[in-house]
Parts: sequence; C-alpha cells; structure tokens
Amino acid sequence: MTMGRFIALEGGEGVGKSTQGRLLADALRARGLDVVTTREPGGTAGAEAIRMMLLSTEGEGWGARAEALLFAAARADHVDKLIRPAVERGAWVVCDRFVDSSRAYQGGGGGLCDGDVLDLHRIGSEGLLPDLTLLLTVDPAVSAQRLALRDGDVADRIGGRGADYHARVAAAFRAFADAEPTRFGVIDAEGAPDEVHGRIMAALAGILA
Ligand code: TYD
Repeated sequence: MTMGRFIALEGGEGVGKSTQGRLLADALRARGLDVVTTREPGGTAGAEAIRMMLLSTEGEGWGARAEALLFAAARADHVDKLIRPAVERGAWVVCDRFVDSSRAYQGGGGGLCDGDVLDLHRIGSEGLLPDLTLLLTVDPAVSAQRLALRDGDVADRIGGRGADYHARVAAAFRAFADAEPTRFGVIDAEGAPDEVHGRIMAALAGILA
C-alpha cells in the first residue's frame, strides 16, 4: 500500500486557513483520494481536552514553557492516534496548524528558542514533519478585518495577545519558510477564496503528480 501525504496549513490569525483547508480537502476528494481533515491544538479527544486548557480565557493562563509543553503533548496524542495511522493507511491528512505554529507562537512570539521547541517535538512526536506546509500570508490590516468579522470582541487566550506578539509570530513564520523552501509553499492569501484555492492547488502540483 502506498503511503498517504501530510499537508499542514499555517499562518497567523484570520488568514483563512479553515476555509482553505475545506476547499483543499474537497478538491483532493474529487480526485478520489481518501482525505482526513483535522486541526491543532486538537484532533483527538485528549488533544481537544488540552485545547480547552490552552485557549480558555478563564484562570491565570500558562507561562511560555508550560504552554509549549501542553501544545507538544496535544500534538503527540494527535500524531500517534490520528495523523500517523492515517498516512500509513494511504490517506491524505490536511491539518489546520502543526509544529510550525509552536515554533512561531511559543518561539517567535513567546521567546522560547527554536531548538527547544523542536526538542519537544522530537520527544513528543518523533519529529514528524508535514510533506508540505502551506504558509498563508495576508497584510495585517486584512487579517484584522477578517478577525473582527469572525470573532467580534471574543478572542481566545492566544489570539487576543497584542499586535507586537502577532508581528513576531508572522516574522517567525516567514523566516521558517525562507529557511526551508522545499517544505514550505508561501501562499498569498489575499483575494477571493477560490483565487487563493487556485494558488494552493498550484503549490501542490509537485506532490499531486
Ligand atoms: P484557533 O481557534 O484554532 O485559531 P486559528 O483559527 O487562528 O487557527 O486557535 C488556535 C490558537 O492556538 C491560535 O491562536 C494559534 C495558537 N497555537 C499556538 O500558539 N501554538 C501551536 O502550536 C498551535 C497549534 C496553535
């Protein structure tokens, strides 16, 4: 049996990852592929429970290190129970966020060093990386507008952090994509959803061939 593929969608808040994940999954299914859509933090019962702890605005919140450990623990469960088995049976996994979010948010935003975040990932998930990571980028003014439409005044604990934090996250994502141009596809996510989807399908041409 041939192995499936693992595709992650990444980017800051309000860049349209969930819409694009759905359009991508539909397009892959239309080609007859077995597709699993999932998200982080979450995707399994255990990881969804950790998600609640991470994103709830109740309580005093987590320090950067505890936060990184919790994301890594959620990911370990997700990889072990859902992502690896799906890829091994030949499915295509489309995941809304993966380890590059930890590198960008807990690393770039929160100040942890990238090597530490990657060490947690090595311990938790044997360092599994996507076959392709699509980084969706938009002008910060555009994402702020999309977020206001989506969230109104109710942001989660991490989404609600300040503009400086999110600027560091965006810069970190860019730096990772520049450092690993074959694993990343940088997608201009401005414009109508079907235009952005067209760019994503073009970026996938290599692995669909
Ligand atoms: P979610 O509602 O899924 O946000 P979005 O729609 O923007 O993807 O919430 C996930 C939040 O968790 C988001 O603010 C990014 C953050 N996050 C991290 O800080 N580190 C991580 O490793 C992951 C997966 C997400």
